Amino acid sequence: MKAEFWHERWEANQLGFHQNEVNDLLKRHWKTLDVAAAETAFVPLCGKSLDMRWLREQGHPVLGVEFSPIACRDFFAEAGTQARQGTTGQFKSYASEGYELYCGDFFDLTRKDLAEVGGVFDRGSLVALPPELRRRYATHMAEILPDGAQILLLTVDYDQSEMKGPPHSVPDDEVASLFEKSFTLDRLDQKGPSDPPPPFKARGLSSISESICRLERRNR
Ligand SMILES: C[S@@+](CC[C@H](N)C(=O)[O-])C[C@H]1O[C@@H](n2cnc3c(N)ncnc32)[C@H](O)[C@@H]1O
Repeated sequence: MKAEFWHERWEANQLGFHQNEVNDLLKRHWKTLDVAAAETAFVPLCGKSLDMRWLREQGHPVLGVEFSPIACRDFFAEAGTQARQGTTGQFKSYASEGYELYCGDFFDLTRKDLAEVGGVFDRGSLVALPPELRRRYATHMAEILPDGAQILLLTVDYDQSEMKGPPHSVPDDEVASLFEKSFTLDRLDQKGPSDPPPPFKARGLSSISESICRLERRNR
């Protein structure tokens, strides 16, 4: 998916992926990860997700990365917070107490940027990417995360001949093949197959499953 695709979505306010509530699975499963409150929670491809506010409420400093400056600005505006703008490496950054959003490409993040990260919440990130970028995403995540960092990963699985992504279908065996070299992997929960949400039904989808996994970066 090219950056342009996402910029156009944000400019046209076509944000079908955005949830107006904190994700239920995050609230249910984050505690399964052993992430101290002082450790940073990283939200890749973060949009303006309210999940970042919930993670902050758990005490974590929150770091997000997002292509769209509209998303970064809206996140702070909707939280009623004034963000300081600056530059961090090659990223434009937006920050206010406990939050830092890097505006730019996930693939430009370095290990140094993520040095304080203990936990990652991936909802709508891996599944936002087409197959050829998913392997690059998993490899880059393994490269930049500190040893022991844990990921709560939400994926969806459905018949891709019925609906085109995003979100793309990423079955459990693909998750294993992408991450198993550098991460241990526990499947925490599986939902479905069940009726898809109405917007996916309208796109022709008849059923969908969700998987929730905990990954932990092995020691190098
Ligand atoms: C499907 S949305 C999900 C957003 C968020 N995780 C949520 O749950 O609302 C994917 C987001 O990732 C951003 N994005 C896609 N590729 C990116 C990349 N390589 N680097 C940074 N952001 C990216 C898009 O602009 C979009 O806002």
